[in-house]
Amino acid sequence: MYMLVKSCYAYAVSNDVKMVVYSQQLWYISCAVNVRQQTEMEQTKDTYLRHLFDGDPIFNVYKKEVTNLSVGAPGPDVLKQCGLMMMRATQHRLEEEEQEGNYYLFQYGITSGLWECREELAKFLGRRYGDPVAREQLILTCGATHGLQLLLCSILSSNGVIFVEEVTYMIALDAFNQFPLMRIVIVPMKDDLVDLDEMEKILQVERKGNYFLNKDKIFWGMFYTIPTYHNPTGMTLPPEDCKRLVKIARENSIVVVCDDVYNLLHYGDGLPPHRLFYYDNPKDPDYKGGNVISNGSFSKILFPAIRLGWLESSHRITEILKASGILKSGGAVNHYISGLITSLLQMNIEDEYLDSLVTLYKTHLKLQRAFDSNDCILMGIVQFLSLPILDKTLLTMTKFWAMTEVLDGMVPSSLLTIQIHKQCSYNY
Ligand SMILES: Cc1ncc(COP(=O)(O)O)c(C=O)c1O
Repeated sequence: MYMLVKSCYAYAVSNDVKMVVYSQQLWYISCAVNVRQQTEMEQTKDTYLRHLFDGDPIFNVYKKEVTNLSVGAPGPDVLKQCGLMMMRATQHRLEEEEQEGNYYLFQYGITSGLWECREELAKFLGRRYGDPVAREQLILTCGATHGLQLLLCSILSSNGVIFVEEVTYMIALDAFNQFPLMRIVIVPMKDDLVDLDEMEKILQVERKGNYFLNKDKIFWGMFYTIPTYHNPTGMTLPPEDCKRLVKIARENSIVVVCDDVYNLLHYGDGLPPHRLFYYDNPKDPDYKGGNVISNGSFSKILFPAIRLGWLESSHRITEILKASGILKSGGAVNHYISGLITSLLQMNIEDEYLDSLVTLYKTHLKLQRAFDSNDCILMGIVQFLSLPILDKTLLTMTKFWAMTEVLDGMVPSSLLTIQIHKQCSYNY
């Protein structure tokens, strides 16, 4: 087909003929496209599936006979409470819209996300973190995954470097793969935490590259990390290391993007550990305008289908994100849902629900008895086990999982929040 179009074009001598040939070309091309689409449609399977893990022999968390330890997602026993919560929030919000009479909730929203939602979110996070959170430094997203993609598209050099820990959240790696000009560089870990000495050495080499930068793409490098309740190691970066990491980021002009999705699932007494963002203090003499971003989400503290999250960043980064063409064209992402979340926060429903989740997940700690406690790390929503068999070569290429029989006295579905992946960096 392509050959035919080409030869027609070769005969075109005058402009008029060119037009004819051009329209022929379009026709041929559209035929070619139709043929291709048809073939693709014939090949595209669209099996009837009900959820992300449906049909998957390993990840299907709804199999009653096993406690699936492979996915960090809540079970139906937890999710059943969500309907009523959302009904109350929806009613509250719609009544407010009705009273005001402008129905802004159904309009395109502002690029950074519904003002009232960010206001309530800042108060909620401030309360739960025990650290100040500023409304104007929040941008609403469709969850941490979307937040990460927004950052990759906006502030990172298009031929930049993404630094990842030796083991990390596997699906983040899939997201990085969609940016083929960006290179992924693995940073070794020590005691299940990023090895900052090694990181400094790697940065010395990588920073010498020739990176495309402009007024928006202000970082040549991004360190993607999960500093609080790391997935999969479960570790939290100690305060001294947090300070050092911030210093390293400033000195090397890179951004540290923290997947802060588990921070509020804190089982200890008192407040959770400070998020890394807290340590990038504008009052520091060596502050460089912000080198840390906190990428948060309601997925683990409310429910995954809500698809609402937030990016918390410095003023210079927030301004770049707000000017993103995607946000400018579409307005706030998940604007309607942000309205319902506003009510959920105003009515204290989210606070109460999060308290109940923490209490419930704490009971899952009983599961520890089922495993060799030396191989068991407990954190957040999930439980990670180090499997004893791993050697480095295997680790780079293979994902591990396990299932176990339902333990006495435990509701199978409430254990769906347990994850024992030893998730691996692919070997690039
Ligand atoms: C570390 C980490 N980041 C992000 C996500 C996904 O977050 P979201 O649902 O907000 O996109 C997960 C889910 O398991 C996760 O473990």
